[in-house]
Amino acid sequence: MTGSREPSGGDGAGHRAPVVPPRAAGSRIALDLTELAAWGEAFGRAATPPMVVTLAGELGSGKTTLAQAICRGYGVVESVTSPTYALVHEYASPRGAVYHLDLYRLAGPAQLENLGWDEIVAAPALVLVEWPERAAGQVPAAHVPLALEHHPSDPARRLLLAG
Ligand SMILES: Nc1ncnc2c1ncn2[C@@H]1O[C@H](COP(=O)(O)OP(=O)(O)OP(=O)(O)O)[C@@H](O)[C@H]1O
Ligand SMILES: [Mg+2]
Repeated sequence: MTGSREPSGGDGAGHRAPVVPPRAAGSRIALDLTELAAWGEAFGRAATPPMVVTLAGELGSGKTTLAQAICRGYGVVESVTSPTYALVHEYASPRGAVYHLDLYRLAGPAQLENLGWDEIVAAPALVLVEWPERAAGQVPAAHVPLALEHHPSDPARRLLLAG
């Protein structure tokens, strides 16, 4: 069975958009911590490399928490920690490498180059990018955008916008 796959959006001239995994299509849902972890694990199980996933959202909105869940679902066994200072962490999984970046402290485009950004986003890997705004213009057109917001009235929940 070879199902044809729909692109997730027509935003890339000459780029083939990655498939948005199941349950990640254009929804904006309120999730508590357990639900967010379950959603991320399901997303990770469905993700297929190469795939660049951007995790947008204000401080403490749950980007790293979601990245950790995605990594678990993808098959990363070692513990995933925030790449706050290193800016990038690399993990191994049975499905290949995972790069987890946090660009909050990025000093500028030269540092992006020093990190090996071009090689990372072109790698046959799962690439998770917190604070993608810092790399504006350099995020490949074919990426899966995820965004988190604090819930306006429930501190235990986050709003997740996917796809
Ligand atoms: N529903 C929820 N979803 C995600 N995180 C939640 C939720 N409820 C509470 N939290 C808590 O909010 C915090 C989110 O922190 P996290 O480091 O994941 O955020 P972040 O967006 O990566 O922050 P930063 O911008 O500093 O990188 C964690 O302590 C987590 O336990
Ligand atoms: Mg973080």
